Amino acid sequence: MAEYLALPFTLTVPKPLLKRTSMTPFADDLETQLQALGTEAETALADLRPATADHLESLRLKYLGKKGQLSQILSGLGRLPEGDRPRVGAVANQVKQQIQAALDRQRSALEAAQVATQLATETLDVTMPGIYRPQGKVHPLQGTIDRVLDIFVGLGYKVAEGPEVESDYYNFQALNFLPDHPARDMQDTLYLPDGHLLRTHTSNVQVRTMGTQSPPLRVVAPGRCYRRDSVDATHSAVFHQVEIFAVDQGLAFSDLKGTVKAFLRALFGDVPIRFRPSYFPFTEPSAEVDVQWQGRWLEILGCGMIDPEVFRAVGYDPETYTGFAAGFGIERLAMVLYQMDDIRRFYTSDLRFLRQF
Ligand code: DAH
Repeated sequence: MAEYLALPFTLTVPKPLLKRTSMTPFADDLETQLQALGTEAETALADLRPATADHLESLRLKYLGKKGQLSQILSGLGRLPEGDRPRVGAVANQVKQQIQAALDRQRSALEAAQVATQLATETLDVTMPGIYRPQGKVHPLQGTIDRVLDIFVGLGYKVAEGPEVESDYYNFQALNFLPDHPARDMQDTLYLPDGHLLRTHTSNVQVRTMGTQSPPLRVVAPGRCYRRDSVDATHSAVFHQVEIFAVDQGLAFSDLKGTVKAFLRALFGDVPIRFRPSYFPFTEPSAEVDVQWQGRWLEILGCGMIDPEVFRAVGYDPETYTGFAAGFGIERLAMVLYQMDDIRRFYTSDLRFLRQF
């Protein structure tokens, strides 16, 4: 099959001039003027300077406009003898087409040039450095809380929260701290003038949740706690804890152990852990748990089986239900996980520190 060559321009094949018949000198003169105009226009258009749309339009008006040169020449047509008119008219048409073709060619060339400049100037350099947009980040303490919550929610626990301004009843009494119990001295409490206190641990959420809901229960409760501690590298008067507890029929110490192990494995990986006997007023038996982390035993949490006295305070029958609980400090976990040596960095809002997380 024949292949067609696509040419970038239009070829205009000039029509052969009509054969000369007898013409008056005036007609000859008009015909010469017309042909000269065609040649002049074509030359001017071929070398358009400046090559702008405005300039092109001004040339169109100059040659083909209503008061342009072609019209001016043609105004003489009426004074020609009848016999000469068709011939001169035909030449006029031919010249008009010739000029129009030159205009069209130039217009396409201008448009193509414009597209080319646009493409060249509007290209996107994907290797240019980007614009910096400041981006917020999750605070390392919140990040640690989120990780802990994720693990327990994955185990079927529901998230709960309790008040930071608390009464003695929920913070101590219902948790089996007797009025003169030495355990109250373990925690130096901040009291408000009206007799309320700032909770010293998140264990108040145990009492508050059990007071309004029936077993079975599996709850994880993060929150802020307060103690009258002087601030140093490992102590802060304001800190965060997470409390977990479960209540059901037939829960045993082995359930507590399995839960704590699953949690610590999710957080630290497969590291050695150990349970040490301990004491808390609200659990019996009680234990503290250490993990071996980078060659050292670190105390991570307190836990135990919920004391029957706590069940009595919230109206659960200790003969029917058993439960376990655990609580741990978030700052402690975060310091271990992120290898930090000073708790105060968490609270100074130093962006150089915070941007690392
Ligand atoms: N409330 C304890 C504290 O502040 C931590 C704790 C220990 C919570 C044993 C518990 C637990 O639920 O069973 O130090």
